Amino acid sequence: MSFTADRLVLFGATGDLAQRMLLPSLCALDADGLLHADLKIVGTARSELSTEEYRDFAREALEKFLPDNRRGGMADFLNRLHYVPLDATTLEGYDRLAQEVGAYEGGLAIFLSTAPSLFEATIGGLKHAGLTEGNVRIGLEKPLGTDLGSSCEINDAVARAFPEDRIFRIDHYLGKETVQNLLALRFANLLFEPVWNSKYIDHVQITVAETVGLESRVAYYDDSGALRDMVQNHMLQLLALVAMEPPTSFDSTAVRDEKVKVLRALRSVAKDETVTGQYRAGAINGAAVPGYDEELGKDSDTETFVAIKAHVDNWRWKGVPFYLRTGKRLPERVTEIVVQFRCIPHSIFEGRGATTQPNRLVIGIQPEENIQLTMMAKVPGLDREGLRLRPVPLDIAMPDAFSGTVRRIAYERLLLDLIEGDQTLFVRRDEVEAQWEWIDAIRELWHQAEIKPRTYSAGTWGPSAAIALAERDGVSWHDE
Ligand code: BG6
Repeated sequence: MSFTADRLVLFGATGDLAQRMLLPSLCALDADGLLHADLKIVGTARSELSTEEYRDFAREALEKFLPDNRRGGMADFLNRLHYVPLDATTLEGYDRLAQEVGAYEGGLAIFLSTAPSLFEATIGGLKHAGLTEGNVRIGLEKPLGTDLGSSCEINDAVARAFPEDRIFRIDHYLGKETVQNLLALRFANLLFEPVWNSKYIDHVQITVAETVGLESRVAYYDDSGALRDMVQNHMLQLLALVAMEPPTSFDSTAVRDEKVKVLRALRSVAKDETVTGQYRAGAINGAAVPGYDEELGKDSDTETFVAIKAHVDNWRWKGVPFYLRTGKRLPERVTEIVVQFRCIPHSIFEGRGATTQPNRLVIGIQPEENIQLTMMAKVPGLDREGLRLRPVPLDIAMPDAFSGTVRRIAYERLLLDLIEGDQTLFVRRDEVEAQWEWIDAIRELWHQAEIKPRTYSAGTWGPSAAIALAERDGVSWHDE
């Protein structure tokens, strides 16, 4: 049922995500007149704060994390904020929360960004206080479990209070503009679809590289590792968008139906198709950084890097490897998808001494948002010493192509979709479960084969075995 919520409750309202992303996104939406005039935002967390104190807290976060030019109307935004302290594990606080929320005539949107161990208790509390009745939808921030079993438990608990069409599972990569642009590129152009298959594509690479290390998330990250932190969600969603069949329309059911088919078609990974690593001390951009163990303060077998050769077993993708890699403390921050086309079937230029290279499409997601298609072109000249061909890029820098439009961060989009009820960019339960099944099998493989992460120096592209994983197929990672 469609409704625009006029109440928003933020669980985890004093947390890192709220400070860095949620409050700045909401404030920016407000400044642009995109929030319902009557939208009341109620924050809740354990800290004993009054509404006034929470507004001060929010002001500080906005001053730190929202660029100057997007802070217009901050005072009005702060007036929308209210706060109720709550211990999520006891029922008492929920009645107070319900009182503060008041009647929600338009509807209520709840955003849970708390430890998953609190999800079940929180749902119970919301139910007890009547906050699951009527027009209510719920947004869930990751991590949604640590394996298929725990994810099902969370999903079952949420399903006891909300039907699937009111559950909004967040993968913030889906809120990124260039990720959505992938759909436009594939399905708003005639050019690519006829060649988007194993006949013309040699392989696909998906890289999500970060320069940061553990940051302040020591306990979470050490329990999670790169496979569950990045591959299970963001990277598999990117893979699904690259590999899916054309949906019949851009709506939540059609798009998610196609994504889940891809996720279910992922072949179990073989032992020699994964490489894991953990960073040692090294240097990033010339600055020395400590190793993972040192940051953590103890020895650990958690992987901070993973590379996988994945396969989608269906007609379109048979024989096309998808090389995935992600890691912390890599030389640069870059998220990109590389679609490597096959060689032309016959070169008419060979007799003239010219060689050709296959076309390549690079979709840059961050930090640069661009689309680059490498084409062969003739080097100008009279060619007395032979014809020369060279790859040249057709380059579209999105910020230039759309200068004058606001570049919005992912959470602006996702929060607005939650408030207004569009599920297209949220992950459906069957997708999450298919993702976990594939990831659990990899973890089981590592466990059985006693695979431990190899070391790599911070500031390098992971263990050398990750390079070998691609090179033995005659493939080079895009940065090489
Ligand atoms: C989060 C992970 O989901 O995504 C983090 O938990 C990671 O470890 C982050 O740093 C990366 O997001 P982005 O948008 O900076 O690429």
